[in-house]
Amino acid sequence: MRVLVTGVKGQLGYDVMNELAGRGHEGIGVDIQEMDITDAASVEKVITEAAPDAVIHCAAYTAVDAAEDNVDLCRRVNAGGTENIARVCKALNCKMMYISTDYVFNGQGTRPWEPDDKREPLNVYGQTKYEGELAVETLEKFFLVRIAWVFGVNGKNFIKTMLNLGKTRDHLTVVADQIGSPTYTYDLARLLVDMIETDKYGRYHATNEGLCSWYEFACEIFKQAGMNVTVSPVTSDQYPAKAKRPMNSRMDKSKLDEMGFKRLPSWQDALGRYLKEIQ
Ligand SMILES: NC(=O)c1ccc[n+]([C@@H]2O[C@H](COP(=O)([O-])OP(=O)(O)OC[C@H]3O[C@@H](n4cnc5c(N)ncnc54)[C@H](OP(=O)(O)O)[C@@H]3O)[C@@H](O)[C@H]2O)c1
Repeated sequence: MRVLVTGVKGQLGYDVMNELAGRGHEGIGVDIQEMDITDAASVEKVITEAAPDAVIHCAAYTAVDAAEDNVDLCRRVNAGGTENIARVCKALNCKMMYISTDYVFNGQGTRPWEPDDKREPLNVYGQTKYEGELAVETLEKFFLVRIAWVFGVNGKNFIKTMLNLGKTRDHLTVVADQIGSPTYTYDLARLLVDMIETDKYGRYHATNEGLCSWYEFACEIFKQAGMNVTVSPVTSDQYPAKAKRPMNSRMDKSKLDEMGFKRLPSWQDALGRYLKEIQ
């Protein structure tokens, strides 16, 4: 297959390109320099010339707190950019995969979110990713894959932040009342390519297996990295951030089983492999 991938300088796009190459597919990677997704004419030209069988759209405005002050740019990238890509995919009749987020949900309760649950974002980033979802859902051949708490070799993430803080501090406080599942881009890339090879279109949730709070995630990072850093749990109220975060990011992934897709390994296993990879 010929697959055009956006956001290849980011965490996920980088691993998707590697996975495509390893599986014998032709990956055409672009980032903002080759194709600014807010520029409709550029999107049309680049994708039409590439004539792909599928587009895996990983590019996004991902600075969640900064988005609260940069609403227009965030919307132009996450909603407008996705709409630009969807329009060309429709014209070319090619598959489109859109990567979305747990932040489209309101985070209430403790029940794991199902792919067709009501969307009610709490912050600007989540709202604009939701608007991107609506654009993709106008297509017939779409995959919408919601992921959460992402970490990859290529980019900034929570694990790298913890490891850096742990170099200069022996004690940290981390929020313990937001529950979710980390997602290793290396593991996710395998699943995304499994999916794009099929015509089992629709909405999915995909993360590594198992649940934790950010506090538990931090404790496990320092344990596996062999660093002597103590971590104390705090509530979200005690650690105010610009953008409101969902407390409940539990994601129901049973649709993966129903559709015959292999789930990702546990997040602890993924963390161990990731630490080896970046050391
Ligand atoms: N990170 C998470 O925790 C998380 C959680 C849930 C869902 N997701 C979703 O998962 C996907 C991949 O996330 P990620 O962590 O790999 O993101 P990332 O590392 O921030 O990469 C996104 C890439 O998109 C590029 N980009 C930004 N604006 C663009 C534009 N106008 N035109 C073209 N490219 C543009 C970025 O370039 P610059 O760096 O130059 O801006 C960056 O290379 C995104 O759709 C994100 O919304 C992420």
